[in-house]
Amino acid sequence: MHRRFFLKGLGLIGVASSVAMPKPAFAGGMLDPMGSKLAGSLYYTMDAPGRWKGKEATHTPSIERSGNMIEVTTGHEMDGYVHYIVKHILLDENLEFVEETLFNPETDAPITEHDISGLNNRLYVVSLCNKHDAWLNTLAL
Ligand SMILES: [Fe+2]
Repeated sequence: MHRRFFLKGLGLIGVASSVAMPKPAFAGGMLDPMGSKLAGSLYYTMDAPGRWKGKEATHTPSIERSGNMIEVTTGHEMDGYVHYIVKHILLDENLEFVEETLFNPETDAPITEHDISGLNNRLYVVSLCNKHDAWLNTLAL
C-alpha cells in the first residue's frame, strides 16, 4: 500500500498542518545551538564533545569581555601545519557571520580580539582545528 493512500485512509492527510507546533524558544526563532542535537555531531562544545571527548579544554574557545571588546583564546598548540587552529569565527545572535581571523600556524597564537559594539543579546565564537573540527562557545551580552 502506498503511504499516501494509507495516510488518507486513516484521515491523517491535512491533520498535521492544523496541529499547533511548539515554537522554538530562542532569539530569532531558532533553536539554541549550544543545546542542539547538532552539538556533538556537526560541531562540538564543552558540554557536547562527541567523538572528540577529552579534547574540550584545548579546543573550546574561551571568551573574555572587557567593555566593547572580547578576547577569544583557544588553548591549543600551533604545531606548524601539522596540527593547529585554522581560524576564529565570530557570529551574532542569529548565527550570522560577523568576522573571522585566519591564523598562520608558523607565527600566530590562536588569540583574537573583536569589537562587539554592534552586537546585541548574544554572540557565538567558532574555533576551527585542522584535525578536530569546529568548536562553539557563546557569550550573553
Ligand atoms: Fe586539535
